[in-house]
Amino acid sequence: MAPARARLLACLPALTMMAAVSWVAAGGVRMTDQVDILWGPTQLLNDSDGGQTVGLSLDRVMGSGFRSKKSYLFARIDIDIKLVAGNSAGTVTTVYLISEGQWKIHDEIDLEFLGNVTGEPYTLHTNIFANGSGGREVQYRLWFDPTQDFHTYSIVWNSDEILILVDNMAIRRFRNHWDAGVPFPVYQPMRLNGVLWDADGWATQGGRVKTDWTQAPFTAYFRNYRASGCEPSGVAWVCGQDPSGGDWLGGGAAGGLDDVKQRQQLREAQERYTIYDYCTDSTRFPDGFRPKECALP
Ligand SMILES: *[C@@H]1O[C@H](CO)[C@@H](O)[C@H](O)[C@H]1NC(C)=O
Ligand SMILES: *[C@@H]1O[C@H](CO)[C@@H](O)[C@H](O)[C@H]1NC(C)=O
Ligand SMILES: *[C@@H]1O[C@H](CO)[C@@H](O)[C@H](O)[C@H]1NC(C)=O
Repeated sequence: MAPARARLLACLPALTMMAAVSWVAAGGVRMTDQVDILWGPTQLLNDSDGGQTVGLSLDRVMGSGFRSKKSYLFARIDIDIKLVAGNSAGTVTTVYLISEGQWKIHDEIDLEFLGNVTGEPYTLHTNIFANGSGGREVQYRLWFDPTQDFHTYSIVWNSDEILILVDNMAIRRFRNHWDAGVPFPVYQPMRLNGVLWDADGWATQGGRVKTDWTQAPFTAYFRNYRASGCEPSGVAWVCGQDPSGGDWLGGGAAGGLDDVKQRQQLREAQERYTIYDYCTDSTRFPDGFRPKECALP
């Protein structure tokens, strides 16, 4: 166990692994059991497997959003998303975990899908805020058309690392380097939010391409929200098990992958799909003073 984690666990109330959690209910996930649909133009569709699909829309007046009923201190979260099809320029579909707690210090794990004109690729923009500071953007080009089908996007967050996966392939890892003075979210619970909004000031091709409102409403679809995390239970935190058979709470094997496999995937994502990485942005850090974590493994 890494020293940082040992120390952390020592100062948290007991974390207990729970033997069985009803992760995959019989049939599909009923989204309304898992999330509250909060605002804006939304739809709730019945799936043939008994589950539900939430449609978030953006029209000329407003976007829309939902949020998970539960918040967690460490979790694995999976959700299937089908993005806005056709001319999605200017639209941003996001799922993000955001801190809520008595400290009100901003922690966030962010996946934003930046729309594009018909036929041009979406960008998956990721960012991590910890202890109030962000600026850790990494962007990816997806290897499939995310508007044709549902794909699974996952966040694994434990005390060692944050891992972002697309269809169970690890694309980004942000490790806990508190020891080296790099902040990491460890003490505030976070809640998942899903939002569709207009950001045509910057989202598409740097803001040059605006939203074509004649195409509105724009709709993205979400289903199969699954979460397994640590939740308060009396004086302890009780943690659910990883449905994929791995050990999400334990770090390396998150997502049911062994560490070697995960490293291969991360390398592949970096070589083939990464289109921007703050750590290699020489315009932003011209004098070479990159954020500390960029030089750490
Ligand atoms: C979905 O099913 C519920 C009952 O299970 C029904 O009340 C509702 O109208 C259905 N919605 C749609 C969009 O078909
Ligand atoms: C966390 O934030 C506090 C308040 O801004 C700051 O004093 C402290 O240095 C930060 N810690 C790290 C590791 O960045
Ligand atoms: C949109 O397509 C253009 C042209 O292929 C590309 O440069 C850009 O990165 C794509 N994504 C966004 C969000 O602008």
